[in-house]
Amino acid sequence: MKSILWAALALFCLAGTAGAQTPPTAEVLHWWTAGGEAKALRVIADRFQAEGGRWIDNPVAGGGGDAARTVAKTRLVGGKPPTMMQWHLGLSLKQLAEEGLLGDVDEVAKEGGWDAALPALIADNARYKGHYVAIPVGIHGENWLWTNPKVLADAGVSVPKTWAEFDAAAAKLKAAGVIPLALGGQGWQQVIVFNAVVLGTQGPGFYRKALVDLDAKALGGPEMVAVFEQLARIKGFIDPGATNRDWNEATQLVIKGRAAMQLMGDWTKGEFAAAGLQPEKDYGCDASPGAGQAYLVAADALAVPKLSDPAQRRGQLLMAKIAMDPKVQRDFSLAKGSVPARRDVPADGFDACSLKAMEKVRNSPDILPALGSSMGVGAAEAGAITDAVAQFFASSMSPTQGARTLRDAIDAIR
Ligand code: BGC
Repeated sequence: MKSILWAALALFCLAGTAGAQTPPTAEVLHWWTAGGEAKALRVIADRFQAEGGRWIDNPVAGGGGDAARTVAKTRLVGGKPPTMMQWHLGLSLKQLAEEGLLGDVDEVAKEGGWDAALPALIADNARYKGHYVAIPVGIHGENWLWTNPKVLADAGVSVPKTWAEFDAAAAKLKAAGVIPLALGGQGWQQVIVFNAVVLGTQGPGFYRKALVDLDAKALGGPEMVAVFEQLARIKGFIDPGATNRDWNEATQLVIKGRAAMQLMGDWTKGEFAAAGLQPEKDYGCDASPGAGQAYLVAADALAVPKLSDPAQRRGQLLMAKIAMDPKVQRDFSLAKGSVPARRDVPADGFDACSLKAMEKVRNSPDILPALGSSMGVGAAEAGAITDAVAQFFASSMSPTQGARTLRDAIDAIR
């Protein structure tokens, strides 16, 4: 009897100390490692810690997140999930949910009125079968052209509005001895250029047909050959040092005036801001050539793995409350260059580039999913297209072969 009492008392004490001592804990796996990205994440981390949470930072470097997603997936499948993980909203998130790998933060979402606070596109892509399996934090656009105004002016060119103007400007810049286009030779960066060319040369309708519906005729047809012809010209406007260059190193080339332009998502703005530069004065942010108001979006979120540890579960719920807080969303996006996922965050304090982005996110008739974020197509399809584009950049195949390789890559996984 005595020993049972002792055991009961010991258990009681253990439970009591565990409850009192283990704060909400979050191991956060992410690829936000560049200057502006890290600053943005710190907004969430600082608030999490201020509210008593224990933050365990787990950065997996590599822009675009291929490496981080591979690590995360392996851990999920192996039953050792992180508490939270950076992910894009969309199909690849839904695939994880279908595999039963995600939990939800519905109780916080309900109490916080997320359905009303988020645009329908974002809320729909953050839910699986009605459950919030991810916390949306910010909306990025991928089809931006970043420029160094002084370098353009010195070469006597203005910001190109069409791809024909781009070619003419790039030729002049090259003759003036600067790198026309700063690019890193990594598939996900090359595919951002490819997306911009598809959109800007063939229009939003064709973009949807080819890169959302994966229509075989669009993928292998004459319009796509024209896209690869433009890519072939672009290959002549990048420098030999591009191989494996990170996106933020490419931005540094523009900042330092060694390169004139970069095609990249608006996380780039975080780098310009971190360097103390002013938009539309020290650097330009314009739609990629020919895009007009059409906007290729990638929505950043923190996905919620299914787990059983109570401290981590409390960590997920605290994180949901914090990351969706209007002030946190505002400060996060100010540092990151994104548009807050919530639509009730006021626009004041955001700079000229962000205001352009907000206008598109809120009013453009052509909001399309960026390919790399796999919002429109699954992870396997996005990967196949990325590989085909990377192959084109790395070889001397003709534009016709490029379009065929692309169509075959999708055929192979259908
Ligand atoms: C993410 C951004 C990130 C960028 C570069 C994109 O996939 O959506 O949040 O800044 O990759 O790492």
